[in-house]
Amino acid sequence: MSASDLHLWHPFTQEGVDPPPLAIRSAKGVFLETQDGRRILDAISSWWVNLHGHSHPAIADAVAKQAARLEHVLFAGFSHEPAEELAARLGKIVPSPLRHVFFSDDGSTAVEIALKLAVQYWKNSGRPQKQKIVALENAYHGDTVGAMSVSDDSPFTAAFRSLRIPVLRTHSAYCAHCPVELTRATCRIDCLNKLERLLSEKGDEIAAVIVEPLLQGAGGMIVHPEEFLSGVRRLTASHDALLIADEVLTGFGRTGRMFACERAAVVPDLMCVAKGLTGGFLPLAATFATEGVQDAFTGGDRSRVFFHGHSYTANPIACAAANASLRIFENEPVFERIAAIEKVHAARLPAFAGHPGVVDARHIGTVAAIELKVPDAGYLSSLRPRLYQFFLSRGVLLRPLGNVVYILPPYVITPEQVNFVYDVIQDSLAWVQNGATSNLINSSNQSRE
Ligand SMILES: Cc1ncc(COP(=O)(O)O)c(C=O)c1O
Repeated sequence: MSASDLHLWHPFTQEGVDPPPLAIRSAKGVFLETQDGRRILDAISSWWVNLHGHSHPAIADAVAKQAARLEHVLFAGFSHEPAEELAARLGKIVPSPLRHVFFSDDGSTAVEIALKLAVQYWKNSGRPQKQKIVALENAYHGDTVGAMSVSDDSPFTAAFRSLRIPVLRTHSAYCAHCPVELTRATCRIDCLNKLERLLSEKGDEIAAVIVEPLLQGAGGMIVHPEEFLSGVRRLTASHDALLIADEVLTGFGRTGRMFACERAAVVPDLMCVAKGLTGGFLPLAATFATEGVQDAFTGGDRSRVFFHGHSYTANPIACAAANASLRIFENEPVFERIAAIEKVHAARLPAFAGHPGVVDARHIGTVAAIELKVPDAGYLSSLRPRLYQFFLSRGVLLRPLGNVVYILPPYVITPEQVNFVYDVIQDSLAWVQNGATSNLINSSNQSRE
């Protein structure tokens, strides 16, 4: 590389400790193909975005057609058919009180928008003192400053403490490490008491509570009881605080329903989606609001407007990809595929739960997680890079969250392939116990059709 070459700076990657990135030349279905011809089974849907398999021809076709017709137009004062169609399609699947949609670019921006909407909602409603946000322990909502502020303290946020806006923190229902030291079999979701106290004491200052409904992702694939989410809804409603559901990860079928909130019969006031919205093709996000929230932004006074927008808001090509992805839900047996994945999780996880090296094994819908017993638990666990390489050496892309190994596959994965991923994880436990650390990246690729 010459001095004038521009260096690629990869996310969450540090040249001093991480191996060079793998060059991928193509991808089809659940497989990525490397530049040197190896195949890797993408068991984490390329950071949780892919739904129907890589390079799905229906989405690829929709993208190409839209790019040739209208690639982009600003969305202030203009509209277009792909966005109108997408709003109509989303309107059929989001909880019915959510009647307004604001498009943006990714999960973090969808969260920023929800936070800003919540704060301005109360200002426009004549209660400007309601400014504070309550967020959960173990939360992850993105890497921009607002989203990072509502995320819990972690290696992701450590360097940016001075930038983060203060938020109120409450317990998450992390049953494997119960924050109030009870057991799920006998508890009455007592972890909610802290939120109740916060809302009782500071309700006049609280604008909203933000949650990742039922599944906290980057915090460790933590599965909450449905009663926790319905309890948060009950408390926010009775204390006049908005509920923001961050469905960036959980949306579009990941938890077995189109949206996780449905599983607990919860309707939030604001809801964020991104990741799977375009089936994994293009960045696009949406923040939904109820009629009641939107009402506060309309009226004769221009200062009520929501001053927020991005250059590529509602990009027509991204909207076309999202429309094509939602059509696949209508035309292909997507929820049968989801149920088939969940069945394998239910069959395979009990053996892991009983393993001496495992703290907890949990699943919801298509997502399963195995939390390993290590002396240095957390995102920076020293086991994590070795496990990552072990999995790649076996032809599987799994990116453990520290000591939590999780599976979050595209829905087109076959039960046999899910079982193969479990076999590889099982082998990794034996490998960890034997203390093996050889140079695995170059060993044979054993991924299966
Ligand atoms: C629940 C949740 N919210 C927000 C985000 C941020 O999304 P993005 O990476 O698209 O900005 C993530 C990303 O993992 C997420 O899991």
